Amino acid sequence: MSEHHHTIDKRQARLAFSKAAEQYDQVAVLQREIGERMLDRLELVRLQPGVILDVGSGTGVATAALADRYRKSRVLALDFAFPMLLQTRKRGSWLRKPRCICGDLEQLPLADQSVDLIYSNAAIQWSNDLDTTFSEFRRVLRPGGLLMFTTFGPDTLMELRAAWAEVDEGSHVSNFIDMHDIGDALLRAGLADPVMDVDRMTLTYERVTGLMRDLKVLGAHNVNSDRPRGLTGKGRLQAMQSAYEQFRKDGSLPASYEVVYGHAWAPEAGHKSNAPSVSLDQLTRSLGQVGHGG
Ligand SMILES: C[S@@+](CC[C@H](N)C(=O)[O-])C[C@H]1O[C@@H](n2cnc3c(N)ncnc32)[C@H](O)[C@@H]1O
Repeated sequence: MSEHHHTIDKRQARLAFSKAAEQYDQVAVLQREIGERMLDRLELVRLQPGVILDVGSGTGVATAALADRYRKSRVLALDFAFPMLLQTRKRGSWLRKPRCICGDLEQLPLADQSVDLIYSNAAIQWSNDLDTTFSEFRRVLRPGGLLMFTTFGPDTLMELRAAWAEVDEGSHVSNFIDMHDIGDALLRAGLADPVMDVDRMTLTYERVTGLMRDLKVLGAHNVNSDRPRGLTGKGRLQAMQSAYEQFRKDGSLPASYEVVYGHAWAPEAGHKSNAPSVSLDQLTRSLGQVGHGG
């Protein structure tokens, strides 16, 4: 187990995402944007994946895009919230329907070395243990297979975290892992040539309640098992809202997101993996030049 073990209450998280499924697409603007950016990066890699797995596929926007792009591939959507998979089923032509798998990304119900490409957008921050998650990814990837993901770094929702910190000591915002530690976890799982980089994005809101409503619909409100229990008192909520006002700029309230992009390869048989993380430039070059997996 890594030192970055979370205690996400999975039952709660699954319930929250299940409830959010129908409205999710209306608010998941940032998630859709970074998912598209990751698809663009994938264009740089010459891959002919036989099997593609979209991990934490949500309503299946990217799953459908992957199925469109890789017409010869078999595309699998995996999510632990069944209502999310029901949304996925509604997409695309009946010919190109992805296979939907209801399961936990930390315990993939898939055979060893059965997947050529894992795509995971904005989902692995829901792992309780990144080492377990990446070991599972490594296990199901074929040698030479590619893992590509986005997740969020520690500066994500920093204004909300700071505003709550002025009110109480409870944990109100999820804990996000630093990019370097994510890179280390990839290496520990035996994934090769990891490449990580960060992009900062800011959403703006008129009121904190707008942000909180979005987080709720995204299923992304706090489900840490050490979250404060019971209803958050009206007084404390108001105190947090006034504390958030210190961040107001040009009339609106910012909500920062530190978006982490990463990719790594399942080593070819006999490959010894101990490569350090490299920069964005190197990423672009390596993606442009290397045709891993044929
Ligand atoms: C923020 S959404 C991202 C959805 C989609 N990838 C997108 O880009 O819109 C995270 C998704 O991961 C799923 N998820 C969270 N924890 C999971 C777990 N342990 N196993 C499987 N799916 C999980 C949630 O149900 C949700 O659909």
